[in-house]
Amino acid sequence: MKTFYFTATGNSLYVAERIGGELYSIPQMLKEGKSEFIDEAIGFVFPCYAFGLPRIVIDFIQKSNFKAQYFFAIMTYGNMSASGLRHMEKVGREAGIQFDYTNEILMIDNYLPLFAIEDQLKKENSKKIEEKLGQIVGDIKVKQKKLIRKGIVSSVFSEPIHKLATKFQYDNGDKWFLVQDKCNSCKICEKVCPINNIKVGREPEFLHKCEGCYACIHHCPQNAIHLKFERSKARFINRNVNLKGIIDANNQTKSYVEIYGKER
Ligand SMILES: Cc1cc2nc3c(=O)[nH]c(=O)nc-3n(C[C@H](O)[C@H](O)[C@H](O)COP(=O)(O)O)c2cc1C
Repeated sequence: MKTFYFTATGNSLYVAERIGGELYSIPQMLKEGKSEFIDEAIGFVFPCYAFGLPRIVIDFIQKSNFKAQYFFAIMTYGNMSASGLRHMEKVGREAGIQFDYTNEILMIDNYLPLFAIEDQLKKENSKKIEEKLGQIVGDIKVKQKKLIRKGIVSSVFSEPIHKLATKFQYDNGDKWFLVQDKCNSCKICEKVCPINNIKVGREPEFLHKCEGCYACIHHCPQNAIHLKFERSKARFINRNVNLKGIIDANNQTKSYVEIYGKER
C-alpha cells in the first residue's frame, strides 16, 4: 500500500502514519518529478482547505498516474469540511481514479484567521480524534468500501466558496505575513515551506507563490511570523509529530536537530 500525504502542522502526517503503508510526501514527489505509481492499494491524506483540496494536492493528482485495485482518501479538517471529499472525488475522476473509500477526521483547526489555537486545544477531547482514527484505520485494513455523502446544500455551496477563498489564499496571500524583529534568521520557515516560497537573508522574504498552509507561521521557533489578521498568537503542531517530521515531509534539507542539536 502507498499512502501519499500533505501536511503543514502534522495532523495529516499523523493520520498517514497511523494508516501506514509506504508513506510518500506529496511536495517531495512533485519536487522529484515522480509521477508513476502502482500498488494494490493507494491512498491520499490531506487537510481540507476552504471546503476543498489544497492546490498542491490537486497539482499532484493531475500530474501523476496511479494504478491500484483500491483507492482511498482521508481529509483532516478543523471545523467544517462541507463537501471537500466530493472535490477529491471529482479531481480523482478526472485523473482516472475511482475512489472506493473516503472519510474525514475532525482535528485541531490551524486556520489562524478564524480560529484561536488555545480554544481549539480546549476542544481537543470533544473531537474524539483517536476514536475516529481507529475506525478509519480498521476500515482501510479490511478494504472497506464507503464514500462520504453530504446534503445537496453542502455540495452546492462548497465549490464556489473554495474557488473564491483560494483566490485570496494562494500566491500573493503571503503579503499578509508580518515578520517581527525577533526573527533570528534560523531558516526553519524556509525548510518547512512545501513549495520553496521563502528565502531567508536577514529575515524571510516571501516570493508570492504561497500555498497558504501557514507552516512557516506555525513552526517559527521565535513566533516571529504573524498574519495581519489572526485570532491567536499561539501556534500548533500535532503532538504526535515533531518539527523534523514536517521538514522531512516538506523540504528535506537540514533538520531542526542538525541545526539546534536537540529535538524541539
Ligand atoms: C488555508 C486553510 C484553509 C482551511 N480550510 C478549512 C475548512 O474549510 N474547513 C475546516 O474544517 N478546516 C479548514 N482548515 C483547517 C485544516 O484543514 C485542519 O487544521 C487540518 O487538519 C490541518 O492539517 P495539517 O496539520 O496536516 O496541515 C483550513 C486550514 C488552512 C491552513
